[in-house]
Amino acid sequence: MTTTRGLRDREAPITMLTAYDAPTAAVVDEAGIDVILVGDSMGNTALGYDSTLPVTLDEVASRTAAVARAAEDALVVADMPFLSFGVEPAESVRNAGRLLKEASADAVKIESGPHTVEMTRRMTDVGIPVMAHLGLTPQHVNRLGGYTRQGTDRDAAEEIIDLAGAHADAGAFALVLEHVPANLAGAVTEALEIPTIGIGAGPDCDGQVLVINDVVGLGEWSPPFSRRFGDVRSEMFDAVEAYREAVESDEFPADEHSHVEEGLEDLY
Ligand code: KIV
Ligand code: NA
Repeated sequence: MTTTRGLRDREAPITMLTAYDAPTAAVVDEAGIDVILVGDSMGNTALGYDSTLPVTLDEVASRTAAVARAAEDALVVADMPFLSFGVEPAESVRNAGRLLKEASADAVKIESGPHTVEMTRRMTDVGIPVMAHLGLTPQHVNRLGGYTRQGTDRDAAEEIIDLAGAHADAGAFALVLEHVPANLAGAVTEALEIPTIGIGAGPDCDGQVLVINDVVGLGEWSPPFSRRFGDVRSEMFDAVEAYREAVESDEFPADEHSHVEEGLEDLY
């Protein structure tokens, strides 16, 4: 069983992948991935939105519950969706608590900033483990003007280092670094006692995270910092097409897929 404390003492690089449903979570868990993130990337990868902004707490809760039912060993981290935190402090804690109490998450992830330091401390204090997330925070796409690399100048890089330290001090058990220069990620990793988990952040983090659709090759597009380790989309396409052809050619269902009940012959 992977625990938030156990992650800190890990020697080998930490592996993290997203999953949004039970069968996928079962595969990810069985393959030995340490952490399953029920990311708000579900907006793009599972729910058909073109950003993460429309994703609701109910959607994350439902999918987290499905993943938690299937995951036996992996730590299950639920992403807090846009505006489910940061509007009102008490509501933020209650929403995070729902993901643990009702959806059986082990921890929550929060897209972090200056406004989430106190929140991280409050959640940690009441027993909700928090994974912080700095660098590119896609919920801020409208403010940032795109999904661009962050921390590229000295001031921005130093701000990320400072915020990383502040969240670690506030009790965060791990930190995701998204789409930042590899040398900045290396510096943050060096500075922190808690593990860093990178995506598009180079090799010097304590672990790596990717989106499952990108890893298995399910989507039509994946970001340049990712890698397709499989081609599930064409496998699925071939299977679906073969099914259609088999039905259209009267080849499926065959005798072995059908049951004829004795005694019903005179129905027709
Ligand atoms: O939602 C997500 O999948 C994420 C990862 C990319 C870190 O936040
Ligand atoms: Na996310």
